[in-house]
Parts: sequence; C-alpha cells; structure tokens
Amino acid sequence: MTAPSVAPIPGAHPLAVDALLDDSSVEIIVCCGSGGVGKTTTAAAIGLRAAERGRRVVVLTIDPARRLAQAMGLAELDNTPRQVEDIDTTKGGRLDAMMLDMKRTFDDVVLAHTSPDKAREILENPFYIALSSSFAGTQEYMAMERLGQLHADASSNGDYDLIIVDTPPSRSALDFLDAPKRLSSFLDSRLLRLLSTPARGPIRLFSAGMGVVTGALTKLLGAQVLTDVQTFVAALDTTFGGFRQRAEDTYRLLQERRTAFLVVAAPEPDALREASYFVERLRDDRMPLAGLVLNRMEAPAAVHVSPERSLSAAEALAESGQHPVAAAVLRLHGERMTRAARERRLAERFASAHPGVSIATVPALSSDVHDLPGLRQIGTRLGGE
Ligand SMILES: Nc1ncnc2c1ncn2[C@@H]1O[C@H](COP(=O)(O)OP(=O)(O)OP(=O)(O)O)[C@@H](O)[C@H]1O
Ligand SMILES: [Mg+2]
Repeated sequence: MTAPSVAPIPGAHPLAVDALLDDSSVEIIVCCGSGGVGKTTTAAAIGLRAAERGRRVVVLTIDPARRLAQAMGLAELDNTPRQVEDIDTTKGGRLDAMMLDMKRTFDDVVLAHTSPDKAREILENPFYIALSSSFAGTQEYMAMERLGQLHADASSNGDYDLIIVDTPPSRSALDFLDAPKRLSSFLDSRLLRLLSTPARGPIRLFSAGMGVVTGALTKLLGAQVLTDVQTFVAALDTTFGGFRQRAEDTYRLLQERRTAFLVVAAPEPDALREASYFVERLRDDRMPLAGLVLNRMEAPAAVHVSPERSLSAAEALAESGQHPVAAAVLRLHGERMTRAARERRLAERFASAHPGVSIATVPALSSDVHDLPGLRQIGTRLGGE
C-alpha cells in the first residue's frame, strides 16, 4: 500500500530534488544526519532516481541493512562499485553501488603511499590493525578518503557524473566533518610523537624523564603494545603528510559548488536539533546545503477526521463495549493525527528558524525499505510527485 502524501510545511520552501538531480554541475551529493534517520535509504533512493533520470551514478553506502544491500546486488563489503541490475536505463543512466570497506580503504592508502616494505610493516602492525578497524572516526575519515578517490577516478575516466555519499551511523552528524581533523590531530598528538621519538635531538635532554614515562606506559600497556605503537608511528611518518593533505583536499572538495549536502532528519526533537547544528556548521564552513529531507513523516489518511473526534468516538465505543475493532481503528487514527500535528509543529519551527533552508518530506512507508520498488517510492516522494 502506498502511504498518503505529506501536506506541505507552511513557511518552508519545497526542496526541488529532481532539479538537483538533473543539474549536471552537481557532481557529489552527501547525505548526512544523526543515527537511524534514513541516510542510507535516502542515498540509495536518490541514486536510483538520478540514474533512472539519465545520470551515471555511483552510490557509496556505509553499513546498509543486509536486505537493502542484497536488493542492490551487494553481497559483501567491497570497495569496488558494482552495477545495480533491474533499473530503467532508457534515459541512458546507470547505477553502481558499493559498501565501504573501511579497513581496505585504509590499507589502500598505506599501500599507495609507502614503499612495499614499509607498507607491510605498517599493515601487519597490531596497533595499525586496531586503529584501522575501530578508531572512533575512522569510518568517517575513510568515507571521505573513498569519496576523494572516487571523485579523482570519475574525473579521469568519466565513468560517473554523480557520486552519492552516505555517511556513517554516528550519533552526531557533525562527526563526518570533524573526523579528518580528529584523526590527524590524533596522529599528530604529543603522546604518539613522544612515544615514537627515539632519544635523539632535544628530546635527549628529557630522556631520563621519558624513560620514566615509557616505563609507566610499558607497565600499563605491556611492552609489546608500546613497541607496536612506536613502530607504527615511525612507519607512518612517510604517509603522514599524505593523510593530512588528502583530508584537506577532500574537505575543500566539499566546499565547492559541485557538491550538495542533503541533511536528513526524522521529525523528532533530537534529530531536528542535530540537523540545526549541521545546517549552521555547513554555513560556517561555507559548504553548499541543498536542503533538509524530513523522513518518515506521519501521513494519516482521512485527515478530515480530527484527532479529538476520533479519540472521543473511540472512547464512547469502548465504554459501550461495542465494535472493538472500530474503536481500535479510531484510536489509532487519533494517535496518528496527534503525532502528525506534533511533527508538523516541529517542522514549522525548524522552517522558521532556518528560513533559507528548503525542505522535502517523505512519508513513513508501511514497512522498511529494502528493495528497488521501495527505494523508487521514496524517490518519487522526494521528487514531489
Ligand atoms: N520513509 C521510510 N519509511 C519506512 N521505513 C523507512 C523510511 N526511511 C527509512 N526507513 C527504514 O528505517 C531504517 C533506518 O534507515 P536507514 O538505515 O536508511 O537509516 P540511517 O540514517 O542510514 O541509519 P544509520 O545511522 O544506522 O546508518 C531502515 O530499516 C529503513 O528501511
Ligand atoms: Mg546508514
């Protein structure tokens, strides 16, 4: 069953998603937002819609639900984009999709920027293995890294004219933008520098002191870990500048006019607060915001039956002990109408706080979105049909 559509939000400029997808000067669309709001679904849905409107698209997804991944023909983490079958290509478009393999991306960076010997030393280092698979922010950083690579490839071989980037399931949407800085300041941190500096140069002055520090750390972490860290940082020295340089390059790419950010939010206070922070941050960082996608909006049918009327009718029926099914339906309708009204108030408040931000709405579908028809339905709603 298709969900009824969501009425326009008063005071908000409707976001013209199709115009965005058809604009050939837009080469990158980044879908961000707080956890669980529908970033991956939105990224996949607009990827499909753009492809069926004639663009050559690659969607970089992160941790998609298994069934959604299957629907797009993705069987495993794989840094290589795979063509999605069963889409309408009559307008000359195509859709490729990939699931970010964080560790592979990290490994590729190391391999590309060091000698084979040094690369092996890094890749086998237990500290590197832990860092590359679990450091907070690594996923965000690697999503950016992979975006930079895809964009460079797309520019050189022309396979794609639109890259759509999903962002990791972090609590805060801002993590995506902060990760590169956090990773490089971690790599640059005093502790790592000190640990990795053999007693030479001015440090020698403090070597007695350093001995105490390393001694304490050895007790704390174990000698092996400390040696691992030292070897790792020493080996990473050569790639160091590279890491930071590329993070900066990609950050700049995100500021260019060919990039567009879509901030995805659920119509809930927390998600909208995050969306507000993010919108402000994009403005401060001069990154181009296309608009807000309000996903999973309650869209009750029979809107002419007010919540008050249906709830009081439900109560009357319940008291009479008759028609229990009708009473339940009326109560459900009353609750949905109440929720819809609350969501609209939140949306209106966001719109009045950010009058320049265009908004697209997507109704909550009756079930999860895990196949191409489901994605197409989301895309249709985004396109305002
Ligand atoms: N409009 C919608 N109607 C119904 N279900 C939806 C809708 N949008 C998303 N979903 C479902 O909600 C769940 C979360 O969506 P999704 O995985 O896209 O969110 P996310 O923001 O990527 O989450 P995470 O932060 O964990 O990566 C999925 O099961 C998806 O199918
Ligand atoms: Mg996701």
